[in-house]
Amino acid sequence: MVLKHDLVKSTQDADQTNLKEKLGMGLEAIQERSEGLLKFTEAYQNLARIPSPTITEIKTKALTERIGILFKAQFETGRIRFSIDIDKAPEYFKADIDLLEQVIINLIRNAVEAVEEKSDPEINLKIEARTDNKVLIGVKDNGKGIPADMLDRIFVPFFSTKEKGSGIGLSLSRQVVLMHGGTINVNSSTNKGSTFEIVL
Ligand SMILES: Nc1ncnc2c1ncn2[C@@H]1O[C@H](COP(=O)(O)OP(=O)(O)O)[C@@H](O)[C@H]1O
Ligand SMILES: [Mg+2]
Repeated sequence: MVLKHDLVKSTQDADQTNLKEKLGMGLEAIQERSEGLLKFTEAYQNLARIPSPTITEIKTKALTERIGILFKAQFETGRIRFSIDIDKAPEYFKADIDLLEQVIINLIRNAVEAVEEKSDPEINLKIEARTDNKVLIGVKDNGKGIPADMLDRIFVPFFSTKEKGSGIGLSLSRQVVLMHGGTINVNSSTNKGSTFEIVL
C-alpha cells in the first residue's frame, strides 16, 4: 500500500536523520576532544622544550612597535587603550628576541583577556633601564585582577581559570625568564588590575 509504504519510509527517514544527528554529535565530540588533546600535547612539548636562549642586542623601540602592530586588531576590537612607555629605556638591551617576544605576547594576551569586561580597558607596556644595569619590562592592565590566594598558582603549568585556557602561558614565560637569569613578578588586586614585571 502506498500510504503504508510512505509511513514506513518517513519513519525510516526520521530514524536516519536521528542517527545522522547522533553520529554528527559524536563525531563533533571526538573532534573536540582530539583537538583538546593535541593542544595539551603541544603545550606539554612547548613546556619541555624551550631552546636555550640565543642572546643578541634587541632594539627597544622596534620590539615595542612590533608588539603594538601584532595586537592592533585585538586592541581595536576590545576598544583597549594601549600605551608604550620607553622614555627611560635603554636603546638596546640583551636577550633572546624570539623567546622574549613570546613572553611579552603571553603577558599582553592575558592582559587583553583580563580587561574583557571593563568599560575603559587599558594596557601599558613599559621598558625601563634600572640603576643596576638591568632592564625592567612591565605589562600592566586595569582588568579583573588576581585574587590573593591564587597568586602563587598562576605560574604553575596548566593552571588556568579560563574555560578554554591552556594554563601554560605564564609557566612558559617564567621558564624563559629564568633561562635568561631574570625574574618575573606580579602585583595584582581584584577589580583594579595586574602588573607583571620582568627584570633581565
Ligand atoms: N593579567 C591578568 N589578569 C588577571 N588574571 C591573570 C592575568 N594573567 C594571568 N592571569 C591568571 O593566571 C592564569 C594562568 O595564566 P596563563 O598561564 O597565561 O594561562 P591561561 O591564559 O591559558 O589561563 C589565568 O587563567 C588567569 O587566571
Ligand atoms: Mg595566557
